[in-house]
Amino acid sequence: MQGKRVLLIVSGGIAAVKIPEVVRRIREQGGHVRCVITEGGKQFVTPLSLAALSEDKVYDDLFSLTDENEMGHINLSRQADVIMVAPATADIMARMAAGMANDLATTVLLATDKPVICVPAMNVRMWEHAATQANLETLKQRGVTFVGPVDGDMACGEFGMGRMSEPAEIVGALVNFFNAGPKPLAGRHAIVTSGPTHEPIDPVRYIANRSSGKQGHAIAAALAAYGCKTTLVTGPTALPDPAGCDVIKIESARDMLAAVESALPADIAVCAAAVADWRTDTAPDQKIKKQAGADTPALTMVENPDILATISKAGNKRPPLVIGFAAETNDVVANATDKRTRKGCDWIVANDVSPSTGTFSGDSNTVHLISETGTEDWPTQSKSDVAQQLVIRIIRHFEAAE
Ligand SMILES: Cc1cc2nc3c(=O)[nH]c(=O)nc-3n(C[C@H](O)[C@H](O)[C@H](O)COP(=O)(O)O)c2cc1C
Repeated sequence: MQGKRVLLIVSGGIAAVKIPEVVRRIREQGGHVRCVITEGGKQFVTPLSLAALSEDKVYDDLFSLTDENEMGHINLSRQADVIMVAPATADIMARMAAGMANDLATTVLLATDKPVICVPAMNVRMWEHAATQANLETLKQRGVTFVGPVDGDMACGEFGMGRMSEPAEIVGALVNFFNAGPKPLAGRHAIVTSGPTHEPIDPVRYIANRSSGKQGHAIAAALAAYGCKTTLVTGPTALPDPAGCDVIKIESARDMLAAVESALPADIAVCAAAVADWRTDTAPDQKIKKQAGADTPALTMVENPDILATISKAGNKRPPLVIGFAAETNDVVANATDKRTRKGCDWIVANDVSPSTGTFSGDSNTVHLISETGTEDWPTQSKSDVAQQLVIRIIRHFEAAE
């Protein structure tokens, strides 16, 4: 979205605290942001932080002599390529649907002929209320597009639909919007695996690992943003579904393999999930009871299916580009180089997951891309930037092959 101009309207929901991150990410992608904030919005995020991050004035007053003189409510929308309302409260959606213009934000929204994207955020009951749902329908019919909301924990302590999409998803939706012309991966299908797997010991216990799914989900979101039909097969994570992906939720390695195989054929497979190597040989369907004096149960482990190797050796069903991930704690590049040959995949993204790196749960990653032609060391960057860079590589790979 290099050079694109986003007019970001911030209304008064608790999720406004995440908007500085949205501003930062838009600018990271080369976009310009100008913010308008409602009185409610100012209760949750300061105009000063938005001004500092956007490097622009923040507008809030409809009746300001100086602002109206310098910019004016009509010009605010004229100078934008798109208007995004994030977070969009129940209140601002109601005022938009009713055609009200009783503050700067709604006046701009009523006066604009630019595309409008709303990112709702509210308590689940506010979201499910018939009034909000009717306003949503009205706005959709008028051409407003929506990003989220998603299911999840809410600041009010409840759980359900109404949580604002994460900043990466919001910016992904903007990238999608600006890429609406030719999409370099349109017509292609990618399968991405993400997250950990849970291997049952009995109905209440399981073996898991520390994968958060952040990297795999970011890759799925980036592929979808470039027009790729994306099937995300994910183990249990706390993450919202990335925008634009078909999401299949599984628990065990065997479930994951079955879901991946049923999603074939594909042009691209990205195996980013941390699949458990082993499971217990049996998983009784009743809880194993602790009994006084009885021996501690011994768990016998058996090997799980190797999803990356299975996909890489799937004969005529093999996707033309298979990318594996190697989570290593020592000799990262050497181990990953060996893994590429053993598994038969095309590329390996190797990352150091030693506890000191914080890779598993953190937001950044230091990776090495290993291919037939050698190893590239990428700088430490956010997981969404790793995803972007990887997807750019995928695009170039297919362009070169054509
Ligand atoms: C602590 C607090 C949190 C709130 N969070 C939300 C919210 O997440 N979503 C929402 O629609 N309204 C929320 N509200 C209510 C709005 O702030 C209120 O409807 C306000 O009038 C919205 O004004 P605006 O849409 O002009 O910004 C919250 C209110 C308070 C006091």
